[in-house]
Amino acid sequence: RPHAPCWCGRVVDDGRPTIEGTGDVTPTSGTGEAGIDERLPVLADWPRVQSRVRPDPGLERAVADLVGRMTVAEKVGQITQPDIAFVTPDDVREHHIGSVLNGGGAWPGADKHATAQDWLALADAYWDASVTSNSATRIPVVWGTDAVHGHSNVHGMTVFPHNIGLGAARDPGLLREIGAATARQVRATGQDWAFAPTVAVPRDDRWGRTYEGYSEDPRVTSAYAYEAVIGLQGEDAAGIGADGVIACAKHYLGDGGTTGGTDQGVTAAAEAELINVHGRGYYRAIAAGVQTVMASFSSWSNPELGITEGKVHGSSYLLTEVLKNRLGFDGLVVSDWNGVGQVDGCTNSSCPRAINAGIDVVMVPQDWRAFVATTIGQVESGEIPMTRLDDAVTRILRVKMRAGVFEQPKPSERLHAGDDAALLAPALARRAVRQSLVLLKNDDNLLPLAADAKVLVVGKSADSMQNQTGGWTLTWQGTGNTNADFPAGTTILGGLREALGADNVTFGETAEGVRPGDYDAVIAVIGETPYAEGVGDLGRRTLEAAQRFPEDLAVLDRVAGHGTPVVTVLVTGRPLWVNRELNRSAAFVVAWLPGTEGGGVADLLVQGPNTGAGFTGRLTYSWPRSACQATVNVGDADYDPLFPYGYGLSNGEHGPVGVLDETGPVGGCPDVATDGDLDLFVWGDFPPYRAFVGAPESAAAALGNADTPLDLGNVTATVSEVNVQLDARRIRWTGSGPAEFYLEDRTGAGDLSHLDPATAIVFDVIVHEPPAAAVVLRVVSEAGSAEAVVTGVLRRLPVGERATVKVPLRSLRPAVDLTRVSRPFLVRTDGALTVSFANIRWVPGAADDDDAVGSADLE
Ligand code: BGC
Ligand code: BGC
Repeated sequence: RPHAPCWCGRVVDDGRPTIEGTGDVTPTSGTGEAGIDERLPVLADWPRVQSRVRPDPGLERAVADLVGRMTVAEKVGQITQPDIAFVTPDDVREHHIGSVLNGGGAWPGADKHATAQDWLALADAYWDASVTSNSATRIPVVWGTDAVHGHSNVHGMTVFPHNIGLGAARDPGLLREIGAATARQVRATGQDWAFAPTVAVPRDDRWGRTYEGYSEDPRVTSAYAYEAVIGLQGEDAAGIGADGVIACAKHYLGDGGTTGGTDQGVTAAAEAELINVHGRGYYRAIAAGVQTVMASFSSWSNPELGITEGKVHGSSYLLTEVLKNRLGFDGLVVSDWNGVGQVDGCTNSSCPRAINAGIDVVMVPQDWRAFVATTIGQVESGEIPMTRLDDAVTRILRVKMRAGVFEQPKPSERLHAGDDAALLAPALARRAVRQSLVLLKNDDNLLPLAADAKVLVVGKSADSMQNQTGGWTLTWQGTGNTNADFPAGTTILGGLREALGADNVTFGETAEGVRPGDYDAVIAVIGETPYAEGVGDLGRRTLEAAQRFPEDLAVLDRVAGHGTPVVTVLVTGRPLWVNRELNRSAAFVVAWLPGTEGGGVADLLVQGPNTGAGFTGRLTYSWPRSACQATVNVGDADYDPLFPYGYGLSNGEHGPVGVLDETGPVGGCPDVATDGDLDLFVWGDFPPYRAFVGAPESAAAALGNADTPLDLGNVTATVSEVNVQLDARRIRWTGSGPAEFYLEDRTGAGDLSHLDPATAIVFDVIVHEPPAAAVVLRVVSEAGSAEAVVTGVLRRLPVGERATVKVPLRSLRPAVDLTRVSRPFLVRTDGALTVSFANIRWVPGAADDDDAVGSADLE
C-alpha cells in the first residue's frame, strides 16, 4: 500500500526533535498529507512542537487588553463550563459564562428529536445572553459537543463509523474529509467546538473506550490526529477557518494505558512510554493547530518507578510542564466531566489544585454555581494566583479570537447554519464503512456474493441502528434508541435488501425455525450491544464474545452445518475472541461500529456498482488468539495474535484460517490483574451471573442492561448510581408483599469450594429508604440455602450515603454448601425498602477485615 512521505520531518541537533505542522495545506486525497509513517523515530524526550497556527502579536495585544479590563467574576465565568441541562441563557448573562456543553444525551428542551432549528435557537439564546451582558467586555460564549463520529448527539444526522473502524481504513485523508463534514454538521446546529478527535492509544481491549481509539499503534493515531484536526478546524493557518469548528484532542494523557483497561484507572507507564506511545497523537494534533486539549480522568502513578502524579487533572507536571512548556501548546486545556472532583482534596465545585496545575476551562456540568462562588473566593484569598487565572483566561480568549467568534454574527446566521444538506454526508460515510470492513476469512472466495443470490439474514444486529451506531449516539450510552430514531441512513439489513432486491432477502432475527438449505447463503449479523466509557469495561470478563452474547452463538448453531455457507458480520467496538463463531462461518467480516450507513456493508458483501476493489480494510488492533489475550499489541516481545496488526484479506484471497481451537478459559483469565474476587455484578451482569427481581405472583424478570424500569408490583428496579454513573441498580420493595433481588448463575450452578473460608459477600450500597421489615441475605445452592438477617445492618447505615457492606460467608446459617451455588446473592424482604446496589462480589479474606459485619450485628 502506498504511503505518502512523512511530513513531520526534521529532527534537530540539540537532541530534542521538532515536530512541525506545515503552513500550507493542499487538499488531500488518498492517504492524505500526513501519510502513515511506518518508522516513527524513537523519541528520547518530549519533542518541541511547532503549530501551524502561529502566535499573532496583534491578537495577543487584543487579548491582553480584554483580560486587563475584566473583573474577577468575569474571569471565573470564562473558565466555567456548565451543561445545557443545568444552565439557562439568563445564567450565562448573569455569570459571564465562557462556554457550555451538551453532555451525551443532553438535548435542547430535553428532546431527543430536537431539530437543527431547535439547537440553533438555543445556541442563539446563549450567544445573545453573552453579548448583551452588563459587563464591559461582552465575550461571546462558545458551545462544545461530543461530535465524536459525526455530530452524533443530534437527531437526523449522518453518523460515521467509530474511530476503530476508521483506523482499519488506513487512510488519513479520509479523516480530513470526515472532520470537515462533521464541522459542517456542527455548524449547521450552531455549536462552535467538537470534543474530538480522541487520540487515545488503547493498549488493553477490555477498556470500554477501545472503539474511540484509531489504533493500538501510535503510527496510525499520529497521522490521523493531524488530519482529523485539519478536517475539523479547517485549513486556515491563522486559526479556525470559516468552515471549521474548534477541535479538541483527548484525553490527555495515557487514557488508553490504564492497568486492566479500567476506565478512569491508573496508567503505570514509564515516561518513555508516555512519550513514544500515548503522547504521539498530541504532537501531530498540536502541529495541525488543535486549539484545545481535554484532560484524562486517569491517573499516572507507578510507585516502583517513583511516579506519583496521581490524577492527571491535578498534575502540573503533565498539564503545565509537559503540555504547555515543553510541547509548546498555547491553546486551552479543558477538564473532563466533573474530572476535577476526582483530584485529591477536591470536590466537583472546588478544585484550586486542578486550576493551579493547568486546567483552563472547568467542565462542571451541574454544580457550576457553587464552583463560581468558591473559585472567586479562592482567587480573592490568593489560593489561586491571579496570574494563573489570567493565563487561563488569556488562553480561552486566544482560542476564541482564533476561532473568529468575536466577529461572527449569531450562530443561526453563520456559514452552514440551518443548512439541511450539511447534516447529511451519506456517500462519504458509506465509503468510510466500505473502507473500514476487515475480511478475516473467505473460504472458497465466497465473498462477494452474486447480485442475484437468495440469502437468509439472521442475528440481532442485522436490523439494529442502535447496535451499528454504538455508544455516543443520540444518548450517552447509545442505548434506548430505535430504528425510528434514525431518519437518515439504513441498517445492514436495509443495505442488503437494496443490493439483492427485497425478494431475495429473508430475515429471521433469531433463526428459529428457518431452513438454511433453501438459500444460497446465510448472513449472520451479530456482536456487541452499545456502551460508553466505563460501562463498557470488561473488567474480569474475558474477550470471549459468547460469554456475553450466547444468543449469537445459538443463532450460528441454528444456521451452520446445513450445507449453506454462512457469512458472519461482527458488529463490535473491540477485537473479540470468536473462534467458535469463525469455525461456524465460511466468511467472516468485522464491521466495527459502522454508523448509520449500513449500505456500505452490503456494498462489499454483494457484488454491485459500489464493490470497487472490494475489501481493503486492515486491522489496526491485533486480534486475540485466546480469550485472555486482552493486551496483545504489535511490537510486543512475545507477540502471538490470531490475526496480526495489518491483517485483512482482499477479494480473491482466502487466508488459511482452518479450524480454530474452541477451548475457552475455565474460570476466567488467570493472568489478568485479578485480586481473586468473584465478581457477580459490576456495572451490569457479570457472566455467568445475571440479575433478577422476583415476586411470588409474577415471573422473575432479568434486569439486563435495562434503561427501562422493571415493575413487578411488589418490587421495582431501575438503573442508578452508587460510585459512578449507571453502576448500580436501585431496587424498591414496595411493601405490598414478599419480593427478591438476586444474581443467578445462568449455567446452572458453580463449584465455589476453592474459595478461602474467610470469604465475605461484599457490596456497595446506598440505602434510600430503610427496611420496614426483616431483610435476609441468602446464598442458594442446589443442596439448600443459607442466610443471615441484615435488617440491623441496613438500618444502621446513614440514609442516602454510600457504604460498603461485607457479610462473612461463615456467618450464614446453616453452613453454605459451596459445591453447587446457583444464586450467590439474594436479598429478600416483605416490607418496604429502597436500596441501590453496586459492585456485588465475593471477596476472599474479607471476612477478617476490621469493617466486616460481626455476627452480633446479624440478628
Ligand atoms: C453525560 C456524558 C458524560 C458522562 C460522564 C453523562 O451523564 O451525558 O456526556 O460523558 O455523564 O460520566
Ligand atoms: C468523556 C468525554 C466527553 C465529556 C463530555 C466525559 O465523560 O470522558 O470524552 O467529552 O464527558 O460529554
